[in-house]
Amino acid sequence: MLLKNNNKIDESNIPGHIAIIMDGNGRWAKKRGLSRSIGHKEGSRTLKKIVEACYKLGVKYLTVYAFSTENWSRPREEVDDLMKLLLEYLKNAERELKGKNIRIRVIGEKKNLSEEIIKEIERVQKNTEHIKGLDFIIALNYGGRQELVEAVSNIVKDVKSGLISEIDEDIISQRLYTSGIPDPDLLIRTSGEMRISNFLIWQCCYTEFYFCDVLWPDFNEDNLKEAIISYQGRQRRFGGVK
Ligand code: IPE
Ligand code: IPE
Ligand code: MG
Repeated sequence: MLLKNNNKIDESNIPGHIAIIMDGNGRWAKKRGLSRSIGHKEGSRTLKKIVEACYKLGVKYLTVYAFSTENWSRPREEVDDLMKLLLEYLKNAERELKGKNIRIRVIGEKKNLSEEIIKEIERVQKNTEHIKGLDFIIALNYGGRQELVEAVSNIVKDVKSGLISEIDEDIISQRLYTSGIPDPDLLIRTSGEMRISNFLIWQCCYTEFYFCDVLWPDFNEDNLKEAIISYQGRQRRFGGVK
């Protein structure tokens, strides 16, 4: 496939794990004189398309940042609308993704989420847990620091009870929500912001970052391919020499 910069995607070097900070819904709406919630609705349409695009490209893991532990500080109405949208998304996800081998998981703190959402998360996770293909991971009420605090608390308990005696990187990785999931190869953030905003702070230690100005509701398959092409032009050294 040829993109506007005339570069071709290398089908043999697709990042195994792509993480996305889906940012810019509010600004997208503001530019059009619409409410922020309409921006989020449009953003959820983009998400459906990007999940399918990743699936087609053969990506193994896709993790998207849907709601951070800091997003509770937004106006009540916006938080309510976001939660409604997420609930709707989870309810429809299986039907929409039917026929495709996509497993859905949700990572983040369950505390503070409504019973209805928790039930829906459990249902969709259980119904898709046997599926091998694309692992689609939604970070909802997720915070990287919160995740580490929880992991450390669990480790301390296990040390006290004698279950573990030494702490290493693997022990920490295994206690994170992402246990068993390889670290992201590529992290994409839309909307021009260049920060990590408490997303996968442990897991992204050697991830390649790609920032683009496109607002999330406008992000499309070609933008995704551009990000992958940029990734394919990088030299990953992991601290070594090449
Ligand atoms: C991303 O868009 C969606 C969430 C954080 C839930 P924003 O709502 O952050 O949009 P901007 O950054 O205000 O434009
Ligand atoms: C990060 O975006 C969270 C999500 C995309 C869910 P924010 O819009 O909340 O991040 P900041 O406040 O600009 O850092
Ligand atoms: Mg934002």
